[in-house]
Amino acid sequence: MTDVGAKKGEAIVSTPQPEGRTQSARPEPSGEPLLQVENLGKHFPVTAGLLRRQVAAVKAVDGVSFSVRKGETLGLVGESGCGKTTTGRMIMRLLEPSFGRIVFEGTDITHLSQRQMRPLRRDLQMIFQDPYSSLNPRQTVGAIVGAPFRLQKIQTEHGVKKAVQELLELVGLNPEHYNRYPHEFSGGQRQRIGIARTLALKPKLIIADEPVSALDVSIQAQVINLLEDLQDELDLTYVLIAHDLSVVRHICDRVAVMYLGKIVEIADRTGLYTTPMHPYTKALLSAVPIPDPAGREKRERIRLTGDVPNPLDPPPACRFHTRCWKAQAICKQVEPPLVELAPGHVAACHFPENAPEGATELVARAAAERDRAAGAGKTEEGKGRLRKLKV
Ligand SMILES: Nc1ncnc2c1ncn2[C@@H]1O[C@H](COP(=O)(O)OP(=O)(O)OP(=O)(O)O)[C@@H](O)[C@H]1O
Ligand code: SF4
Ligand SMILES: [Mg+2]
Repeated sequence: MTDVGAKKGEAIVSTPQPEGRTQSARPEPSGEPLLQVENLGKHFPVTAGLLRRQVAAVKAVDGVSFSVRKGETLGLVGESGCGKTTTGRMIMRLLEPSFGRIVFEGTDITHLSQRQMRPLRRDLQMIFQDPYSSLNPRQTVGAIVGAPFRLQKIQTEHGVKKAVQELLELVGLNPEHYNRYPHEFSGGQRQRIGIARTLALKPKLIIADEPVSALDVSIQAQVINLLEDLQDELDLTYVLIAHDLSVVRHICDRVAVMYLGKIVEIADRTGLYTTPMHPYTKALLSAVPIPDPAGREKRERIRLTGDVPNPLDPPPACRFHTRCWKAQAICKQVEPPLVELAPGHVAACHFPENAPEGATELVARAAAERDRAAGAGKTEEGKGRLRKLKV
């Protein structure tokens, strides 16, 4: 596993700080990992016929590894269908992983039963993408935000109503609106209700699945600012899922970029935004709006051609090769492993951008090492393949 998250003393990249939250606004995330995800995967079976035999599998998530330190915000970014929600739902144990491991606060929770998970539900919470469908329209705000107390049978000092009203105040809503129904609120306010519900049991880790993508741009910033303020106040750790890099830029300490079920790059915010190494990250970044017109002119806009391939039958080796303008023969034959190419900055590409000299050789060595370890490299054919490609 390439564990860049658990490292202490991450690289201080001597490049300008991208705009967004200043790192000094809150304590540095501690070195301790709160969450570790190791080679996690989910293959959804596709069945056919009367006997519903499995004929194929949707490789929604195909071996992702990352860790999240206490107090940090990790962004999980990628195009629609790349497996972000599936990853989040597996971490929450709302979906059974097909393989891999999830370790939360040092405990392997991958195969805990729902009963064993119950006490952990207090610590692990999820904010859902759609503030319209994630709130029960027949319940009052009081009942919605108070539900976690009732489900977990938790007594509060001054009663559930008081606790709920405090939560509403914390997320910037009027506590007097306790008896109102979701349809009486705007999208942004509904997302605040969802956030209040998430905070009820003082969780340690929140998986926020596209918390602002259903909201107007003007409201998005308010909700992101609220998440930031709550993190400072309540010492929260976030995994923030988004499909573009502009949303996570403001709030994330580190960002993991996903493509078709795999992580292709992880780096701290500065490294990722100023010196992206994977061509896919570069393409995603080129679509992020730049407020300064001078910067806009200088930047090259990369338009990815072709559709995202079908996860039922992903391209072999580098999954991005069907859309990559740098693809060469090796990209179609040898899967590039995630390699640490700068301190705390890992990427999976045979020909990375902005990488130090010798990166291509480093990736080739890591791929050969992996194949050897997996047994594939034991065959003469496997070794010859790499030699023939002169990498
Ligand atoms: N229950 C399921 N059965 C079969 N396939 C599924 C199931 N859930 C998700 N998938 C497939 O898995 C892939 C990843 O889906 P997922 O929802 O995790 O993507 P995502 O990155 O969250 O996308 P989006 O940005 O659109 O929310 C998609 O191809 C999706 O169609
Ligand atoms: S490995 Fe090859 S195809 Fe894949 S991203 Fe790198 S250059 Fe492009
Ligand atoms: Mg999703």
